[in-house]
Amino acid sequence: MKDDNILEIKNLSVNFPVHSGIFLRKTKNIGAVENINLEIKKGETLGLVGESGCGKSTVAKAIINILKFNFHNTEIKGEIFLKTDDGEIDIVKLKSNEMRKYRGDIQIIFQDPYSSLNSRLSVEQIIEEPLLYHTKLNKSKRRELVFDMMERVGLQKELAKNFSHEFSGGQRQRIGIARPLITNPKLIIADEPVSALDVSIQAQIINLLQELHDEFNLSLLFIAHDLSVVRHLSTRIAIMYLGKIVETGNSDDVYFNPLHPYSKALISSIPEPNVEGSKKGRIILKGEVPNPINKPEGCVFRTRCPIAREECSKFIPKLEIAEAEHFVACPYSFEKDNQKKSL
Ligand SMILES: Nc1ncnc2c1ncn2[C@@H]1O[C@H](COP(=O)(O)OP(=O)(O)O)[C@@H](O)[C@H]1O
Ligand SMILES: [Mg+2]
Repeated sequence: MKDDNILEIKNLSVNFPVHSGIFLRKTKNIGAVENINLEIKKGETLGLVGESGCGKSTVAKAIINILKFNFHNTEIKGEIFLKTDDGEIDIVKLKSNEMRKYRGDIQIIFQDPYSSLNSRLSVEQIIEEPLLYHTKLNKSKRRELVFDMMERVGLQKELAKNFSHEFSGGQRQRIGIARPLITNPKLIIADEPVSALDVSIQAQIINLLQELHDEFNLSLLFIAHDLSVVRHLSTRIAIMYLGKIVETGNSDDVYFNPLHPYSKALISSIPEPNVEGSKKGRIILKGEVPNPINKPEGCVFRTRCPIAREECSKFIPKLEIAEAEHFVACPYSFEKDNQKKSL
């Protein structure tokens, strides 16, 4: 692993077998994630962006290592290296009992603060729970940490005895953020943490995450279907389409100079007058994301791509370097002519 990385994903593929027919014999695979590579540096926020169904949550589940144990028969290939106090470990290879030791190192903030918080526990109990699993701290120390963390995420400690259903969506997500942070994890995954919230409170939660990130020097994987949500928070951005990473780069490079036709379409759909893409007009993609059981051959984006050509069905484009730290999986995105055509 590189010195400054906390996580390295190498050639990760995740297949969900689909059983069908009267005898439920395995017929096909859903290739939710296909041969992806990602790196997260210590203290950085990586934004992972793509439409619903493109495999973002599957990446998150592979990192927290729950696929093998919760979804039997899932086929996982590749490696996910995490830097721990015991050195580098490959999460994919760990058995359930071996993983227990590292569960506290990777924590997740869930999308839906309504269903992800246990309604039978008080706020204090919810936030305290990871400390019970992952530390040997006594009750008074745990309470002190819980109260500190409540205050830090903007919840008064007087509310500690209340139950989560007594809170608004925004406050619930503050609880959903306090809980994973309490064990001081090496990596936090935020899986669409504001998608279930009212637009009016999304910005508050994003600002809170940004503050916490800066204060605790968090390493964060921030997942969203909306690029404008991750942009300000992210050091780097990876764009995902139908199980593949199609573009990665520094946040501003991807946002202001998107190269892949899919990234261009995503950015052009952001309703901001000062955004490069939207000035040039919105790119409307044809149709829906194809069913992952029947992916197009060759480039998976070609059926919706404004610059697709015959060759695109014949090979799977690899991520190639376009400029410093900026990679794109479309050889035609480099051609000036096609850049114009796609806009
Ligand atoms: N446990 C599972 N069994 C079968 N298919 C799944 C399972 N989880 C996810 N999928 C499929 O994998 C694809 C990617 O899903 P997901 O990772 O949830 O996408 P995203 O988070 O980007 O919306 C989808 O087609 C979804 O239906
Ligand atoms: Mg998801």
